[in-house]
Amino acid sequence: MDMSTEKDAHNPVPFFDLTRQYAQIQDEILPVVSSVLSTQQFILGESVRRFEEKMASWWGLPHAVGVASGTDALILSLRAAGLKAGETVLVPSFTFYASASSIFLAGGRPLFTEVNPDTFNVTTKELGEMLALRGERRNGLWFDKSTGSRISGIVVVHLYGQMADMQSLSSFASSEGLWIVEDACQAIGAEDHGKPPGTYSVAAAYSFFPTKNLGGGGDGGMIATMRGDVDAHLRSLRVHGSLRRYYHDELGYNSRLDAIQAAILGVKLGHLHSWNRRRETIARTYNENLKSTPGLLLPVVASGAKHVYHQYTVRVTGAGNRDKLKDFLASRQIGSEIYYPLPQHRQEAFSCLPGQNLPVTDMLSSEVLSLPVFPELTDSEQNAVLSAVIDGIRKRS
Ligand SMILES: Cc1ncc(COP(=O)(O)O)c(C=O)c1O
Repeated sequence: MDMSTEKDAHNPVPFFDLTRQYAQIQDEILPVVSSVLSTQQFILGESVRRFEEKMASWWGLPHAVGVASGTDALILSLRAAGLKAGETVLVPSFTFYASASSIFLAGGRPLFTEVNPDTFNVTTKELGEMLALRGERRNGLWFDKSTGSRISGIVVVHLYGQMADMQSLSSFASSEGLWIVEDACQAIGAEDHGKPPGTYSVAAAYSFFPTKNLGGGGDGGMIATMRGDVDAHLRSLRVHGSLRRYYHDELGYNSRLDAIQAAILGVKLGHLHSWNRRRETIARTYNENLKSTPGLLLPVVASGAKHVYHQYTVRVTGAGNRDKLKDFLASRQIGSEIYYPLPQHRQEAFSCLPGQNLPVTDMLSSEVLSLPVFPELTDSEQNAVLSAVIDGIRKRS
């Protein structure tokens, strides 16, 4: 790819632009929205049932349950996994806030782990290290030495669109007597050794937040599971803990996927494979053109993983260099973002927990920078991003 033209170098490039996608599919979206409006059936019903079936067969999994958001998908999955009040759950600190807040909101307490700095995902190494540091095993159960609380499970996050190695994580979890809930909010379409999230865990939680690879016209979420009992439990939890109207078996939530969202998402699902392929092509072009740039570490795809590049995230090494590059890109009107600037173990919201020292996570938070990777990004816009990144790095060295 030729990256050298003055014109390209000064093209403004947005980090993300949903209006382009809508312009392409507006003619498919408007009739299905209108059809839900004409039924006036807005909560669950046929539209949601049809979309749940479509999603389940798209994943090749037996069950899919629509809920109001990715955060709710996590909370309900944690409840369905059997999380009890006051129990502790292992979760990476290098993730979005809701991976950890959902544990609190479901009654538990997060215990933060490091991640592998190449893939940004947790492996058995980081989990084993945290259990060795903070865990104590009694009668086959794990307890947190600092708080006395039982450690009952793990939230495995598939960050930026790449799955963690679920086969090894699930063998580890079963040998340690822990359950797994997957945070697949950024990983729709991702696979690990040909299997999607939800295959080797209690459940996998997805988000349809508008900017996700499959995004709705508002909030929405879904849970994928292999287990019929979990499916039934989730269907009760999402309607106030009730399977029979006005009879409540347990404390539940009001967390349904809207019928209008389901209709929109059903249309967009038809495009998801090609959108994800386009993201992969953009990522490949970034990789090819940036691979020998000094001071830049490119995203590593683990063997057996299919990455769907919800984000294309590089690491800019050296103190302060990431922020300098981000400022340089901004001066060229190139959008870039930091996911995430403050790791979860440093959030004020979690300051009631015992302090933790997670140097790899702190380093990643100071180095990561995500570049534009949405499917409608044009080749010439990507050229402009590439020139600006290369110029920005050169200027610094
Ligand atoms: C990793 C991760 N977990 C959880 C969530 C929460 O999803 P939602 O915004 O749909 O509640 C998101 C998305 O924002 C996410 O990226």
